[in-house]
Amino acid sequence: MSAPVELVLPAVTRAAAVTATPLGRLTVPQRAVPERRVLVDPEELGRLRDAARAAAARAHAPYSDFTVGAALVMADDPDRRVFLGANVENASYGAAICAERTAITQAAAAGFRRIAVLAVSCTRSLQAGIADRSPCGICRQVIAEFASDQPPSLVLIDSGEAGSLGEVLDLDRLLPYAFRL
Ligand code: THU
Repeated sequence: MSAPVELVLPAVTRAAAVTATPLGRLTVPQRAVPERRVLVDPEELGRLRDAARAAAARAHAPYSDFTVGAALVMADDPDRRVFLGANVENASYGAAICAERTAITQAAAAGFRRIAVLAVSCTRSLQAGIADRSPCGICRQVIAEFASDQPPSLVLIDSGEAGSLGEVLDLDRLLPYAFRL
């Protein structure tokens, strides 16, 4: 374990916008996510990022040729073991499962419920923009199911950039208005 580093997740603020139409108001809801400070262990982040990259090499992606790896540590796991995932595709395309969800389902099946850090590496698009490297909508909703607020579950997105550990988001910033039941 390296010395913890304080990470600042900046506040997101957006006023509501209301537009009158002849049939009634249309509202863009307001958004207010406060600044958050969280302690991270850079060594653990680096280990997870590297593990996600390595897991991507084991993806079964013969149809898309888009390999993704995930590595996950759960906050409620005292041993902080690493759960791995890779995308596993199928000849029946809709049966494919993403790397993030293979890792999360393994951790959940081992009895854990709160994500500490989930690292993801889309190895075929490391030089691309963040939308080409970040978790899909279904995975975001599954992350939401196992996200904790205090400390916030973090998602580390591999950027492939030299000298960078990656890009970090919490769920409030990754999936605004996540569905809850
Ligand atoms: N994929 C993931 O594994 N994670 C994501 O968040 C985005 C997409 C996989 C699914 C499919 O096997 C391939 O990438 C192309 O969509």
